[in-house]
Amino acid sequence: MTASSDQSAHPAQPASTLTPAGAPTPASTPTPAATDAGRTTVAVVTGGAGGMGAATARILGREHRVILSDVHQEHLDQAVKELQGAGIDAEGVVCDIADRASVDALFGRARAAGRVMAVVHAAGVSPSMGSAETIVRINALGTIHITQAALAAAGEGFALVNVASIAGHMVPRLLVPTRAYALADTDPAAFTRKLVAAANRGPKAGRAGSAYSLSKNFVIWYSRHLAGAFGARGARVLSVSPGSFDTTMGRLEEASGAGKLVEYAALRRFGTPTEIAELLAFCASGKPGYLTGTDILCDGGTRAGLTLRSMIALARGQ
Ligand SMILES: NC(=O)c1ccc[n+]([C@@H]2O[C@H](COP(=O)([O-])OP(=O)(O)OC[C@H]3O[C@@H](n4cnc5c(N)ncnc54)[C@H](O)[C@@H]3O)[C@@H](O)[C@H]2O)c1
Repeated sequence: MTASSDQSAHPAQPASTLTPAGAPTPASTPTPAATDAGRTTVAVVTGGAGGMGAATARILGREHRVILSDVHQEHLDQAVKELQGAGIDAEGVVCDIADRASVDALFGRARAAGRVMAVVHAAGVSPSMGSAETIVRINALGTIHITQAALAAAGEGFALVNVASIAGHMVPRLLVPTRAYALADTDPAAFTRKLVAAANRGPKAGRAGSAYSLSKNFVIWYSRHLAGAFGARGARVLSVSPGSFDTTMGRLEEASGAGKLVEYAALRRFGTPTEIAELLAFCASGKPGYLTGTDILCDGGTRAGLTLRSMIALARGQ
């Protein structure tokens, strides 16, 4: 584990970036973020150029300075511009979550900008976007990087919300590679190898899908696993598992599963980015102060409508 520093170890903020409480704001500058005992409070959003991340940043930006992060520079610039246009105090930081040094640089920037109070980790890729290895490296190893960096930054009242998936709830218990999961903190490279091997065990056509389900099952497990370490700092960590949502990723997967899943949903439709963003932002706020070490499934009642038989049919692509 690399969680060695604490909130008090935040580097001093340069005077030029401080936002004095109550200071008048020129009409042309964004609304200043809230201050906590004179310090600006900061929310970090990964996958910030994506559907869920951008919608969540819009809500968190009412209370905090937003450090918006994504691997895609052009999309990130556009998302930051839109937040600033809405009067939000936002800054973009390009970061590849699969790269630990890149994640450390992101958190270094966030901690220099103020007191980090919230992280919503929405960056991820879906089965159509890459091989089993790419999916495991981004969704699972990336979540280890973000969670460990968040733990190092966590102080009293802090919250990390990791975005998992309904897919993580559909892995049969016998197939959960708990021995690989146990390596996450001590040997992330071996963890990655073992998870990729587990995903690659089945027929070729299903490997990326398996990697996605396993990586999201891991996100749920890891958020629960580290709740005690966050709790020791007066901080919280949890995961939120979306069903099918109307974002670039959700629509990309429509033909290969997400569309079929919706047929089982109590609400019989995709969720909107704002509907999931409201939940993510609430979980990351100080309001649910006793909510930690758990997962919230937000799927329009999809899981409730699935029987074992329908899950097998879905897994076979029927
Ligand atoms: N949309 C859905 O139906 C759905 C369902 C279940 C779970 N999810 C999960 O929700 C999260 C958000 O998804 P979304 O629907 O907003 O998708 P999206 O594709 O709109 O956004 C995902 C963002 O992650 C970024 N990203 C990808 N790889 C990255 C990397 N290596 N480093 C940093 N950023 C990276 C992308 O550039 C993109 O902007 C994802 O983790 C996804 O797996 C989505």
